[in-house]
Order: sequence, then C-alpha cells, then structure tokens
Amino acid sequence: MVCSLNPNLVLIGFMGTGKTTVGRRCARFLGFRFVDTDARIVRRVGTSIPEIFAREGEGVFREMEARAVREVAGYVHVVIATGGGVVLNPENVRLLRASGILIWLKVAPEEILRRCRDRSTRPLLADADDPLERIRAMLNQRTPFYEAAADTSVDATGLTHEMTTRLVLEAYRTHAAQWRGTREECEESS
Ligand code: S3P
Repeated sequence: MVCSLNPNLVLIGFMGTGKTTVGRRCARFLGFRFVDTDARIVRRVGTSIPEIFAREGEGVFREMEARAVREVAGYVHVVIATGGGVVLNPENVRLLRASGILIWLKVAPEEILRRCRDRSTRPLLADADDPLERIRAMLNQRTPFYEAAADTSVDATGLTHEMTTRLVLEAYRTHAAQWRGTREECEESS
C-alpha cells in the first residue's frame, strides 16, 4: 500500500468525458505529474490504440492496460487519466483505489457523441451503425462498474473543462482529507 501525504487523483469514466484534458489541468493546479494509461500504451507499443485493437484484438489491449495500471498505481503525487474500460478489471480497480481518490467523470450520451465526433480514434465506437445507441448500451453496462469503483463523481455535462477542473479539484480535496485520516490510522496501528 502506498502511504504518502497526498493521495493520487485518478479519473475514471466513459470515452469523451474529458479525463485527459481535465487531468492535465488538475495536475498543474496540484503540482502533480500527469500520467495517462492510453498514452503510455501507445508510447510503449509504438502504434495507435485503433491499430492495437485491429492487429492484436481487445484482449491484448486489456493486458497492456492492466500492465500500465500496475505501473502508474505505484507512483506518488500523480494525476492518472484512465481509459474508459479500465474499471471492467477488478484488479485495476483494486490497485487504483489503493493509490488514490477515484473521481468518475459523467457526461450525458448525446454530449459524449458530440465530443467523440472523430470516431476513428475510438475502436469501440468506430464500427457502430448507430453510435448513440452503442454509447447508451455501453454506458448501461458500465455504469455499475464506475459506481462501484468511484469515491465520488462529477457531472461534466454542459460544463467547460475549466469548470469541470474546479469541481474535480474540490471533490479531490474533500476526499483527500478523509483519505489521509485513514492512512494515518493505518500507519499508527501497524
Ligand atoms: C476504451 C476507451 C479508450 C481506450 C480504448 C478503450 C473503452 O480510452 O482505452 O479505446 O473501453 O472505453 P478513452 O476513454 O480515453 O477514450
């Protein structure tokens, strides 16, 4: 278990909810380093996410994602932006929860569709005849996983990235205070 003064900030949520952009901004405010599990995979493999899905399949991508989570969850004082499917693997959730505060970014499906206009970069949306229907179906399936993993959530529907960043930082600060309390108790009793 990582016992640091400040917990990491972990952003979870569906594609197009602003995890990367908001995560970068939060990192600047907190003086933390920013890491992104998708970017890490792309850097390691040297090809894009759609290419990994096309050549190797989703299963291989999920293994790479789990490896990226294992690495970044061990860092301290980082903001971690995750891929939308990271919560489907319970081991990912366990590691991320031990590393910091998980904030779930929520956005309404219609707005997700607008934000993901370039579907070619999102292999799980690219082949859908009705992308809005695909987004709704995936959200229905994943919502219980986001709910179970998250410490708290921020509804970013209709908000600018700046406003979302403010709300995320507020949520982080509230939960970080509780988190530190828990870790201090844990250190004292060990
Ligand atoms: C995925 C989301 C993507 C990327 C991959 C799979 C998903 O990340 O990890 O295409 O399963 O929802 P973003 O949420 O950053 O788009």
